[in-house]
Amino acid sequence: MLGRLNHVALAVPDLTAAVAAYRNTLGAEVTEPQALPEHGVRVVFVNVGNTKIELLEPLGEGSPIAAFLAKNPSGGMHHLCYEVDDILAARDQLKAAGARVLGDGNPKIGAHGKPVLFLHPKDFFGTLIELEQS
Ligand code: CO
Repeated sequence: MLGRLNHVALAVPDLTAAVAAYRNTLGAEVTEPQALPEHGVRVVFVNVGNTKIELLEPLGEGSPIAAFLAKNPSGGMHHLCYEVDDILAARDQLKAAGARVLGDGNPKIGAHGKPVLFLHPKDFFGTLIELEQS
């Protein structure tokens, strides 16, 4: 089921400062910021060749990363995103195995314009997992 690592996501308190650090200090290629109101985040992607780093800052009221940043004020690793060939088949297989899918269980369109789902971190050893249709 599990395919490539699509990205590692880091929650940051200040996206502008994080972009400057990655672009200027680390010399990385960083995309322009993209607002994803349905996910309550603003994101950029850092291209590191074999995968991407997603930098996330909260957007709007009730952002799903607000609580994470309250606990980790300087930021930190938020989730890993793996690619799957068929997200609905993956979801059904995971649910049948007892894993919890967050939200209403239906994929939402993610930052790459493809369907995504999130899996409960307590079912995967403390790490939030995002699945993206490849
Ligand atoms: Co992500």
